Amino acid sequence: MKSIGVGVIGTGFMGKAHALAFAAASQVFDLDRRPHLTALADADEARARHCAEHWGFSRATADWRALIADPEIEVVAVATPNYLHEEMALAALAAGKAVYCEKPMATGLDGARRMAERAKGRPTLLGYNYLRGPAVGLMKSMIAAGEIGEIVAFKGRFAEDYMADPAVPHSWRCVRALAGSGALGDLGSHLIGFALHLAGDVQAVAGEVATIIGQRRTADGMTPVENDDQVHAVLRFANGARGVIDISRVAWGYKNHLAVEITGSKGTLAFDQERLNELRLFRPGDSGFTTVLAGPRHPPYGAFSPAAGHQLGYGDLKTAEIGHLLRGIAGREALYPDFAAGLVIERIAAAIERASAERCWVDLAEL
Ligand SMILES: NC(=O)c1ccc[n+]([C@@H]2O[C@H](COP(=O)([O-])OP(=O)(O)OC[C@H]3O[C@@H](n4cnc5c(N)ncnc54)[C@H](O)[C@@H]3O)[C@@H](O)[C@H]2O)c1
Repeated sequence: MKSIGVGVIGTGFMGKAHALAFAAASQVFDLDRRPHLTALADADEARARHCAEHWGFSRATADWRALIADPEIEVVAVATPNYLHEEMALAALAAGKAVYCEKPMATGLDGARRMAERAKGRPTLLGYNYLRGPAVGLMKSMIAAGEIGEIVAFKGRFAEDYMADPAVPHSWRCVRALAGSGALGDLGSHLIGFALHLAGDVQAVAGEVATIIGQRRTADGMTPVENDDQVHAVLRFANGARGVIDISRVAWGYKNHLAVEITGSKGTLAFDQERLNELRLFRPGDSGFTTVLAGPRHPPYGAFSPAAGHQLGYGDLKTAEIGHLLRGIAGREALYPDFAAGLVIERIAAAIERASAERCWVDLAEL
């Protein structure tokens, strides 16, 4: 079996998730080429070396530009803080590589536009891994088959509590130039991705963004938080459906509560990422919601396990995402969300911020 050279930049939460997923992808899926873990980069050279050795990469470097220039590498995975995505992705595209980049795409709409422009005709994929879940795929196919009729409403919430404690220190995530928006970009981008995937194009938005904990501790004392902790928005879809979304990084008790409900003229589907192997379904005549457990009939579940109800996990969604990436590079699937689709998500996020600042509805055609 031929191999395809992979370079991963970043060794944090996502760098490790990418490394595990690239290592597992050809065991889980029948791929044309097996990923070869060619090089791992991190600003901290000792950590890059340590992780490369433990995760199975051939080389380690502190210089991400050297990784991109490596002729053995065909795919560059960007798993670094948001402010580095644009520069790294553009450099990788300029070097002729396929690019797999974490979300949010960039720290602002201008950067996302530059990335989408330069990616035209090139294989790119963004890290919207939650779209890969078996229950989400089932939801999408049931909607497409008309099983809940015409979509009437989308309700979505992405709540986490990783910054709920005021004692959580200041970090790059609180700095506009380094993170872009706050909860909106970090969590809301996933939720907007779900809205587009399941309910269709968004035409207009209204919303309000708020910073709940205004300053956090640094070594020099208390420092202002420059972006949002919490966002509420109303969406108007092109098909006439209406939506509400609620996003928070300060919602005590929630760890990965990416929850959506789609109500149609003939039923409702409900999903919560904290129970990612389940889809709840109601159709007229039912006396309440029925829970469907994910199993081999719900791709990509069967590639991992032949037994229903035995459950996939977060890392499996990353492996499924890498399977999609490699089939896309081989020309067997259209990559989604690529940088062009990611730009649509960024435009909706920017429209919500503008609606909040100007206290009005914003039409997506204005951005
Ligand atoms: N798709 C998802 O489910 C998901 C989940 C968490 C984070 N993310 C995204 O992944 C990205 C990274 O987040 P994380 O939680 O892994 O962060 P992290 O802080 O855990 O890791 C970031 C890594 O980047 C490295 N780094 C920083 N500057 C660098 C440079 N100049 N060169 C090389 N390496 C450098 C750091 O040393 C660190 O290893 C963010 O954009 C975040 O939004 C996505």
